[in-house]
Amino acid sequence: MLHNIDTKKMNQLMESNKDARDIINQLLENHRINVSTISHEIRNPLTLVFSSLQMMEMQHPEVKNFAHWEQTLSDVEFMCQLLNELSSFNNGEHLTYSPFSLNKLIKNVSISFAISLEDSDIEYVSNVDKAITTFTGDKHKLQEVLLNLLRNARDAVSDGGHIYLDASRRRDQIVIECRDDGCGIEAEKLDSIFEPFTTYKKDGTGLGLAISKRIVESHGGTLTVNSTPYKGSTFTVALPL
Ligand SMILES: Nc1ncnc2c1ncn2[C@@H]1O[C@H](COP(=O)(O)OP(=O)(O)OP(=O)(O)O)[C@@H](O)[C@H]1O
Ligand SMILES: [Mg+2]
Repeated sequence: MLHNIDTKKMNQLMESNKDARDIINQLLENHRINVSTISHEIRNPLTLVFSSLQMMEMQHPEVKNFAHWEQTLSDVEFMCQLLNELSSFNNGEHLTYSPFSLNKLIKNVSISFAISLEDSDIEYVSNVDKAITTFTGDKHKLQEVLLNLLRNARDAVSDGGHIYLDASRRRDQIVIECRDDGCGIEAEKLDSIFEPFTTYKKDGTGLGLAISKRIVESHGGTLTVNSTPYKGSTFTVALPL
């Protein structure tokens, strides 16, 4: 932590030396990015925990009488909001490779995502090709990618809309498509949506796609988009086997 006296010294140094100013500005920028990264990656699973708690309360209203239930719910909600406010970028290039069942991962993500949709009128369908079995990559980071894409799709569709997550094997690649029939993206925005901090949402950090692209590319894959305004969007993750 920098104390007041240190901040004063730093400001003096920055005023008197251009090289020092550039280096310090760069370090401060890196620091901002690191803080943002951590908060973004915690936010998605925490949002799912919050949705699950809300679901439990709906299905078993008696839990409201449990000691600390209300407090727990409001603490989790507060943490989600707090993390929403902290911007983030990610350490997507640092992967921990291990073999895992991609089929199972998609199924687990689908279950959590479907729970978060339960009080909406959005239809979610997931189709995983049986030929998809073991994949070697960073399981948690790939899960983060799928959740980012699904969360964006959920934000893009209104009630009565549809979201599809399809995974198939095409020659030496695994192709995962997240498709929605939501608002779509205007052509002039398409190039910039993968840039960090590009957001068109009130509470967005604009980091979901930037993080996802880095993670997918670190696996040697690609993340691309096809979108038509007012018709919907398809985000395609292609991962080499
Ligand atoms: N499926 C989609 N349909 C329509 N627009 C989308 C879709 N996915 C992304 N976008 C657009 O791309 C922008 C950038 O998305 P990204 O996930 O990087 O950030 P965000 O969702 O705004 O914020 P964050 O994910 O950090 O909370 C969004 O603000 C939105 O305008
Ligand atoms: Mg997003």
